[in-house]
Amino acid sequence: MSRGKILVTGGLGFIGSHTVVELHKAGYDVVIVDNLDNSRPQVAEAIHLTSGQRAAFYPCDIRDRAAFSNVLAEHPDIKGIIHFAAYKAVGESVDKPLKYYDNNINGLVELLKQMNEHGIRNMLFSSSCTVYGQPEKLPISENTPLQPAESPYGNTKKIGEDILRDATFTGSIRGVALRYFNPVGAHEKGLIGELPIGVPQNLVPFVTQTAAGLRDQLRVFGNDYPTEDGTAIRDYIHVVDLAKVHVKAMERMLDGEGPSYDIFNVGTGRGHSVLEVIQAFERVSGKSLPYAFADRRSGDVVEVYADATKAERELQWKAEKTIDDMMRDAWTFQQHILNKTHILNRNNNV
Ligand code: NAD
Ligand code: UD1
Repeated sequence: MSRGKILVTGGLGFIGSHTVVELHKAGYDVVIVDNLDNSRPQVAEAIHLTSGQRAAFYPCDIRDRAAFSNVLAEHPDIKGIIHFAAYKAVGESVDKPLKYYDNNINGLVELLKQMNEHGIRNMLFSSSCTVYGQPEKLPISENTPLQPAESPYGNTKKIGEDILRDATFTGSIRGVALRYFNPVGAHEKGLIGELPIGVPQNLVPFVTQTAAGLRDQLRVFGNDYPTEDGTAIRDYIHVVDLAKVHVKAMERMLDGEGPSYDIFNVGTGRGHSVLEVIQAFERVSGKSLPYAFADRRSGDVVEVYADATKAERELQWKAEKTIDDMMRDAWTFQQHILNKTHILNRNNNV
């Protein structure tokens, strides 16, 4: 028997698709709304092949008031919304700030209004550790002071949290913001994963594409940081662990537990340097990765890792997968895409 119906905005994207699979596994029915701006309709089938269940999929923009309202009217039994739909490229947000404020802020406001109109109470919001900048003290807890945003993208996450918090003060909505650290990896079956459009900006897709021969070499941004091996440190978290925390946080809201607004860090609590990531990749793939040191990337911070004990204590969730799992699964997915692209190209279908 179904445990209820959850709407997932951006459910064909990287984190959304993995979360839909975990919702299915936990016994929920899922409705996906995604405008395909950064995903492909084939992901719906890949989700089905991964979880064994189908989600109802609507190719719709959440800012399209009439179309989105129709979706909600068709599903009057939606119990909660997990909101992934947003733009996420930091560099692009500097060049096109209004595009980011329009989608990430107007999209959120529109969603909250529609929740009120359709009597939906519970909302999970995708925030980011970017709201902390480079903090003075590590690890970063939820009480660590926030820093001014370094990009319009980062600002949309900070403002988004404030909007959600204020909306919960009316009593009609309950909200949880999840501050993700660095989500990487893929489902172990290799059918869903991270498929950036164009040249990847983030480390792990660049690593796997380099190993696959699609890029000449990885540039390691900075080897003169004050860390043990000189490269910057992040808290990489496996996307399946990340997907699972959404199920836990939603269940807590559906059970009526917790405050009307809450925030959780979602990380492993462990930092890995860029060189450690490369070594893990080489270990699990058996391939040697061509890389060269380059200048620091502007805007990068030295070291970031989470204190994730609040989620462990209050949501009974803890990241389980290791950096080797993350690299192995990202590599499986990369190999899967290569094979698939080959087939699709042959059929002249891409
Ligand atoms: P993604 O781009 O893979 O997924 C977002 C999905 O939302 C895409 O499928 C896109 O087509 C869809 N979408 C965008 N705007 C939409 C709109 N107006 N209406 C309907 N659909 C829309 O990104 P992701 O990595 O899965 O990230 C999901 C969320 O998590 C985003 O809000 C992102 O800012 C946040 N986040 C991501 C990371 C990360 O490193 N991936 C880190 C911190 C926070
Ligand atoms: C990026 C975003 C951040 C977001 C986070 C979560 C930027 C500036 N920040 O963080 O807002 O919350 O993702 O996913 O984009 N690196 C290389 N070579 C590369 C790519 C990256 O050495 O080709 C290094 C970076 O310098 C960094 C580490 O790898 O030290 C991780 O980089 P990346 O994957 O881009 O994530 P963040 O910069 O941490």
